Amino acid sequence: MLTNLWYVAEWSKTVKDKPVRVKMLGQNFVLFRDKAGKVNCLSDVCIHRGGSLSKGWTTKRDCVACPYHGWEFDAEGKVQFIPSRGEGSAIPERARIDAYPTEERYGMIWVFLGDLPEEERYPIPDFPEYEDKENWRPVEVEYNWEGSVDRVVENGIDIAHTAFVHPGFGYPEMADKNEILKVNRGEYWGSSDNVLYPPQLEGNFGLNKLFRADKAATYVTPAFYLPGHCVRLHIKVNSWMEMIIFDANTPIDENTTRSFAVQVRNFFKWPIFDGGAKKRTKRVFGEDGDIVSQLSPNYLPESLENEVSVEQDKFMGAWRMIRRKHIEEKGWKIDTKAMKPYEGEKVFTIPSPARRLNPHFKWALDTVPLIAPTRRAAAAPAGEPASTEPV
Ligand code: FES
Ligand SMILES: [Fe+2]
Repeated sequence: MLTNLWYVAEWSKTVKDKPVRVKMLGQNFVLFRDKAGKVNCLSDVCIHRGGSLSKGWTTKRDCVACPYHGWEFDAEGKVQFIPSRGEGSAIPERARIDAYPTEERYGMIWVFLGDLPEEERYPIPDFPEYEDKENWRPVEVEYNWEGSVDRVVENGIDIAHTAFVHPGFGYPEMADKNEILKVNRGEYWGSSDNVLYPPQLEGNFGLNKLFRADKAATYVTPAFYLPGHCVRLHIKVNSWMEMIIFDANTPIDENTTRSFAVQVRNFFKWPIFDGGAKKRTKRVFGEDGDIVSQLSPNYLPESLENEVSVEQDKFMGAWRMIRRKHIEEKGWKIDTKAMKPYEGEKVFTIPSPARRLNPHFKWALDTVPLIAPTRRAAAAPAGEPASTEPV
């Protein structure tokens, strides 16, 4: 699991006037809205006696109150009021917990889980079609995986499995016709252009069948982004029908992943077709989930030597390479093994940006251990920019 990235914590519609608990990167967080409607995210662990803030309530000071002794924490994680001491009394300087930057986009709450300053953060991936309600109709789908996030992302961009795992996407006998036409990649993203030969599209009361012949060449573009561990799958059904599945994949812990997916379509945009679109998207996740939950090991193997890859796996190779680069050169991977001996005895927290700004502050909680970088960043070869814009 990697720190220093944006992740989706929850659907926007779920966080109303009560605090909500979410688990990400193996830690608990509380989300709460202030009076202006802004969502805030704090570590869920009260530094007084370990109360869970998400079981508390929001207050007139725009704080979240701990349910145990009522201490009130503001959006920056600072205690503003200690009821047992009374109004106007001094607050201990160390009465502060980690607070994380938040953004609401695409009907989702995004939280930056790390201590990088704003200018160094990779951006939340673009999804312009979501904003373009005139031309695209969205439906939301959620899926919970028994699988590690790195395997889930790899599955989402893997074209070769479609002929076997998804009857709606292809035929086993056409597996050698499916082709990766092009791979593009930047510092924190990759995309590839592919041609597949799927069966006729089902659904929409049989109407979809009329629009494309069986096994007609169909252009599919999967992309991945490190921020949000997002996968974007653009399917050009024919010359005028397109759909995109955009999903943010949040590591709940090492073995569990929660996908927040929005499917948009530029055809049959009336609400009556939403139910079918949701059902088919969810079914595709289920077909993948059955396979991913049984993979061994559950994580991507430590060494590429432990698996055998072929030419058709090259786009997955791009994902692995970019992920590894951020582990080996930047040191963003959480060392979960180092935390195991402390299980049940000690809580850790994900470092927030305030920790870098206040290096001498005596925070009550220790931060999660990270695996130290093992190599220095290589300079980009001449003529190849380190980062280019996603296509
Ligand atoms: S444990 Fe939170 S106020 Fe005491
Ligand atoms: Fe799949």
